Amino acid sequence: MSYSIIISEHGGPEVMKWEEIPLQEPGRGEVLINQTKVGLNFIDIYQRSGIYPLNLPSSIGMEGVGVVEETGDAVENVKEGDRVGYVMGQAGSYAESRVYPANRLIKLPDDVTDSQAAAVLLKGLTVSYLINKTFLVKKGQTVLFHAAAGGVGLIACQWLNKLGVEIIGTVSTDEKAEIAKAHGCHHTVNYTREDFTARVEEITDGKGVPVVYDGVGADTFDGSLKCLSPFGVLASFGAASGAPPALTLAVLGKKSLYVTRPSLAPHTATPELTEEIAAPLFDVIREGLSIPINRRYALKDAANAHRDLQSRKTTGSTIFEI
Ligand SMILES: NC(=O)c1ccc[n+]([C@@H]2O[C@H](COP(=O)([O-])OP(=O)(O)OC[C@H]3O[C@@H](n4cnc5c(N)ncnc54)[C@H](OP(=O)(O)O)[C@@H]3O)[C@@H](O)[C@H]2O)c1
Repeated sequence: MSYSIIISEHGGPEVMKWEEIPLQEPGRGEVLINQTKVGLNFIDIYQRSGIYPLNLPSSIGMEGVGVVEETGDAVENVKEGDRVGYVMGQAGSYAESRVYPANRLIKLPDDVTDSQAAAVLLKGLTVSYLINKTFLVKKGQTVLFHAAAGGVGLIACQWLNKLGVEIIGTVSTDEKAEIAKAHGCHHTVNYTREDFTARVEEITDGKGVPVVYDGVGADTFDGSLKCLSPFGVLASFGAASGAPPALTLAVLGKKSLYVTRPSLAPHTATPELTEEIAAPLFDVIREGLSIPINRRYALKDAANAHRDLQSRKTTGSTIFEI
């Protein structure tokens, strides 16, 4: 038996229950992971609330770290005792132990702790594909990154800064502005009291930016389009404030803009694709990327963590202890 957070209906944080459930045996190509840390991500809220519906009852969560306890048949890439992490796949990382496909596992380097891995894998792999694949940013460019003091945001600020990119980051409080700046953001805009489109115009001398990374969605989508320079790219990768509005394609014509809705799932669909974005992430970690773990909760208290994330109280990464 093992404890998991289980939801039997979609809804608020209160639907998450800490329940003892029977432990499965790993099947062919699978391993049993004894989990030590679990990462908190905004997608967990979409799963819990039903924005991304699950077959219920179900656990939730897309990122875990631990030790391989048992391997099923035909598992060759990992062995018992290996330290591993994973992202995406089937929901269910909010668990003490779980069975998971071996070919999706990422072996953890010795110099990355379990806590760091749970704090950085999903968010860092997202930044890795956003800045290397969705839009290949170049030194000297200026970009707009929304929710710059968030989990994805603080990793993006550091990584973009290191590449010589000038970052305009939106935040909702003065405290978050200071945190974003401390992680390499050059210009912060408090979008709860300032018009961020006007500030981007001012900072870029009216030129606009070649790319906007927008994980906020409903509240920022239209403004993000306005901030783009001709041929610019809007990478709409999340919906923390709700789903973006429907898009009338003709709106893009005036500046010949591109809009994309990228996701980590296809970027981790095969071990090769995962490696393409994991290798640069581990490189930047080795070169000193700091992994800000600003909150920790016991996994059984996941409801409190969800309340804090969705009410914008968190900054950087949050992890669950098991
Ligand atoms: N597509 C992908 O592959 C992918 C992968 C990972 C994450 N994401 C997306 O990236 C975004 C950031 O994820 P994260 O886990 O790092 O979360 P996070 O940025 O730590 O938290 C979300 C932040 O969004 C901002 N926000 C703006 N309006 C909000 C609202 N109405 N309610 C709640 N937050 C609001 C808040 O920052 P301020 O208070 O500063 O406004 C909040 O701290 C999310 O949209 C997530 O879904 C997408």
